Amino acid sequence: MPAATSDPEFMTITVQVKRYDPDTETHRWDEWQVQALPTWRILDALHEIKWEQDGTLTFRRSCAHGVCGSDAMRINGRNRLACKSLVKDLNPAKPITVEPIQGLPVIKDLVVDMDPFLQAYRDVKPFLIAHGNEPTKERLQSQKDRDRFDDTTKCILCAACTTSCPVFWTDGQYFGPAAIVNAHRFIFDSRDDAAEERLEILNEREGVWRCRTTFNCTEACPRGIQITQAIAEVKRALITRRV
Ligand code: SF4
Ligand code: FES
Repeated sequence: MPAATSDPEFMTITVQVKRYDPDTETHRWDEWQVQALPTWRILDALHEIKWEQDGTLTFRRSCAHGVCGSDAMRINGRNRLACKSLVKDLNPAKPITVEPIQGLPVIKDLVVDMDPFLQAYRDVKPFLIAHGNEPTKERLQSQKDRDRFDDTTKCILCAACTTSCPVFWTDGQYFGPAAIVNAHRFIFDSRDDAAEERLEILNEREGVWRCRTTFNCTEACPRGIQITQAIAEVKRALITRRV
């Protein structure tokens, strides 16, 4: 993204970032003025700061197009992807605040340790488990069967949901919405044979019953996944023992 040009659309925005210095183990807020277009994403503004003003600013990003899930941040107090948040939608007349997502240890500035989040994901066995002989042709599935879990296939593991959940903030052992979403994706897949196994995992003390249905997760999800509904479907399957 180019630095300021003569384009009259450019405006000065103020970006405030909550930073963490691992050497001194201290937090501080830093502020920068950036020449930005209204159509810039917050990721563009962070790039501008890093490349032109302060190379020490640290954050994650990869695809820059809402696909990889690596740049979830708390922007103006709400979990969002920096690459999907436009300056013009964030009241640029006021300072735009950027913080790391909450509930995970901060490594540096906006980079958090994703290991606890990914461990919960691994724990629900997010892969197809099919017993019996290898099929000789593809595993067929009706459109109706596919529709049962279509929504939860969209997850990009950005952690915006789990780190917006007050239960996760107070109890980091809670599996969290993202792990439940990814369990849902296989529990309701007609080709999978391990629904019972995953339901038992989610029936544990730190499992699905910790959810208090605050809807923060659904509001935070950049993919629009109906997370609260998916969690309710898993709870119902546990009660009825039917998927
Ligand atoms: S469910 Fe949505 S918010 Fe949660 S990790 Fe997946 S994409 Fe991100
Ligand atoms: S950088 Fe990949 S989702 Fe934003």
